[in-house]
Amino acid sequence: MQEAVKIDSGRFQLNRLSPEQHVDSLEEDVYTGLLSRPRSLPPKYFYDERGSKLFDQICQTDEYYLTRAESALLKKHADEIVSTVRPTAIVEYGSGTSEKTELLIQAANQHYDWLHYLPLDVCEEILIESSRRLLDRYPWLSIDAWHGDFLQDMQLFNNSHTRSLYTFLGSSLGNFSYDEASQFLRDVRNTANDDDWFLLGIDLVKDHSILNAAYNDIEGYTAAFNLNLLDVLNQALDGDFNTEKFEHHAFFDIDNSRVEMRLRSCCRQTVTLRDIDLKIEFEDGEHITTEYSRKYTADSIRQLLTSTGFSPEHVYTGDNNEFMLILSRCLKKR
Ligand code: AVJ
Repeated sequence: MQEAVKIDSGRFQLNRLSPEQHVDSLEEDVYTGLLSRPRSLPPKYFYDERGSKLFDQICQTDEYYLTRAESALLKKHADEIVSTVRPTAIVEYGSGTSEKTELLIQAANQHYDWLHYLPLDVCEEILIESSRRLLDRYPWLSIDAWHGDFLQDMQLFNNSHTRSLYTFLGSSLGNFSYDEASQFLRDVRNTANDDDWFLLGIDLVKDHSILNAAYNDIEGYTAAFNLNLLDVLNQALDGDFNTEKFEHHAFFDIDNSRVEMRLRSCCRQTVTLRDIDLKIEFEDGEHITTEYSRKYTADSIRQLLTSTGFSPEHVYTGDNNEFMLILSRCLKKR
């Protein structure tokens, strides 16, 4: 049985992706990540309340072009996308504030006066908050929200609507390794029906100075966002990370075609996470990898999509080839 919380006269449902109560894997993730070499932490823990706000601020910096570029493409092409697909439902992985998807929802309203929206996110508060906003603005919309980690727990997700538009925006696919990305895309394809479509927003390889600047904004929001991860751990696991003794470091790694974000220890130091009985000794200059942000080319992303069960039909990209939206049909299941 799924748990359902009604917040608005039958138009809203909150479901969980995991079989039991959402199991928090933070303790295990932190333990494994910090003891492996190089040390690492999963980027999904960036997004506590402060982290989510900092991410919003990153999106407004001059250097971080991704969000602006993607919104511009959606504004320009939402109508064509909706006219092509004519979706009865929009499914969104990692929906966050749903602001960009709202452009698709608005465009759908030009064609009909009802639509189902199925946002999936790890943050329950943000799911409820964004759903409230959308339900207020669009009285003809109904929302089936899904809380959980869509990489790990997709078992319970079900979508009974025909002709759905699945979306994965913001270049979040870039956080995944090549293997994780292809596993994720295969899972999306298996979840979808033959007549469903998939819209992917992905950042492209470009001049390295532009990439480096995007992850090193001058106002320091990206640095604060990265360092906030240590505060997240301090709070969750009774830790004593001193954020002044670590520094933000981000660079484009050409060989792997990805931006790598690190937290570098400014001195030799010992950090304790009391709740999990973990003591870590950092050498001066030793780092924790906190995020990869893979950058694709038009060819590499097309190839990944075709090898995972999709047929790219429409490709939207601005004049400067900054960012790409790819609308794909599902290849028939064999
Ligand atoms: C939300 C994962 C797409 O990788 O560009 C922004 C997160 N990290 N600045 C990205 C992020 C540093 C962002 N994604």
